[in-house]
Parts: sequence; structure tokens; C-alpha cells
Amino acid sequence: MIRVAVIIGSTRPGRNGEAVARWVHDLAVKRGDAEFEIVDLKEIGLPYLDEPMPPAMGRYEHAHTRAWAETIASFDAFVFVTPEYNHSISGALKNAIDFLYAEWNTKAAAFVSYGSAGGVRAVEHLRLIMGELEVADVRAQVSLSLAADFEDFSVFRPAAHQEDAVVAMLDQLVAWAGAMRSLRTSGESGNSGDLGASVDSGALVDYAAASVGDS
Ligand SMILES: Cc1cc2nc3c(=O)[nH]c(=O)nc-3n(C[C@H](O)[C@H](O)[C@H](O)COP(=O)(O)O)c2cc1C
Repeated sequence: MIRVAVIIGSTRPGRNGEAVARWVHDLAVKRGDAEFEIVDLKEIGLPYLDEPMPPAMGRYEHAHTRAWAETIASFDAFVFVTPEYNHSISGALKNAIDFLYAEWNTKAAAFVSYGSAGGVRAVEHLRLIMGELEVADVRAQVSLSLAADFEDFSVFRPAAHQEDAVVAMLDQLVAWAGAMRSLRTSGESGNSGDLGASVDSGALVDYAAASVGDS
């Protein structure tokens, strides 16, 4: 069965993200065409990225990175539940994404955002990030307004039509997750995958230097 992570992208005390993610999860588990699990970045508790090698090398030194890699590797698709902070995603979510590479590749993603303008600017940034990670992001998305879908900007009361938006988004996501899984298991994805498995240590140093130069 397709496995989907519902990732809570905010970590601050009093966050709205947890209620939004639980609402998505409650709707999702009624479907029966995939398994859905909440992945809470607050519980994961990653530090700022502290791996010496670029994640695309797949040479994870720290136990927390290996545990995070194992978690993400176990899923076929992701629903990113993201706030909009300064017209982008949260630092915590970007950091958690940056920790890994191959574990995201050739999978599918969808977005549930919230903010004064529905969090759509955060999602536009997230779509660019997904491209670099070789993740196929579906068009259908859920945009929640702090004014219309929350009371006092803090108590989540989604408008009725938002449930339909979740269904439409998950319909696309589960279909694309299946297609991406076929591509992954066929070995013909053409993705860059775990570069570290196929290069020698000299090339690793060159790659690390080049990736600094790329930035
Ligand atoms: C650091 C910060 C920056 C924010 N910037 C924006 C913004 O650019 N646009 C917006 O619509 N809302 C912005 N907000 C409001 C958040 O979207 C709103 O507080 C939301 O509930 C944050 O998600 P969270 O409660 O899960 O942390 C910002 C909030 C914070 C804490």
C-alpha cells in the first residue's frame, strides 16, 4: 500500500500547524487507498544541519540524520502542511528537507498551507525546492485563510469547501505516488539518487567543493 507522510512544518509553541495536520490526517485515513502517518518536526527535533557532506552524497554521519532518513525513506509521498513565514516556508521545514536527498527522490508531494493569503507564497517556494529534490508535486492544493478558516487567527474552523479541496489533492497525490513508485522500482527514474554509493573519496571531495561553488 502507498504510504503518505503528513508533515507538520511548524514547531513553535501554540502553532496552528498541528490542528491543520490532524484535520488532513483524519480526512485521509477515511480513504482506504493509502496509509497516512503524521510526521511532526517538533517531535523529530533535528538540530540545524550538521552533516559534513552534502546530503546528495548519502554519507550521513549522525544518528539523528540516519533516523530521519529512515523515516522519510519509508514513505512514497508527502503532504507538507506549511505555514507562511515571511512569504516562505518555516526555517524548521527547510532545515528538515535539506538534511536528506535520495530519500525524497522520485516521490510525490502535495501541499496544505495557511496564512493571511492562504500560505500560497510558501507553497510556491516549496514547489521550487521539490524540483531540486526530484519530487513530483501535484497541482491541487489546499490554501487555508487565517481570516476565513480560523477563529481569531488561532482556532482552526475550516470552511466546508476545504474538505473537497483535501479530497481532490489526495486523489492526485495517491495516483502520482503510485506512478512514482513504479518509476522508482523500475530503476529507470533517471534520478541522481545516492551519489555517494558510486564515487570514490577523491570525487567526494571534488563534489563537495563543486557544490559550494554552485551556491
Ligand atoms: C515568523 C513569522 C512570519 C510570518 N510571516 C507571514 C507572512 O509572510 N505571510 C502570512 O500570511 N502570514 C505570516 N505569518 C503568520 C502565520 O502564517 C501564522 O501565524 C500561522 O499560524 C503560522 O503557522 P504556525 O501557527 O503553525 O506556526 C507569520 C508568522 C510568523 C511566526
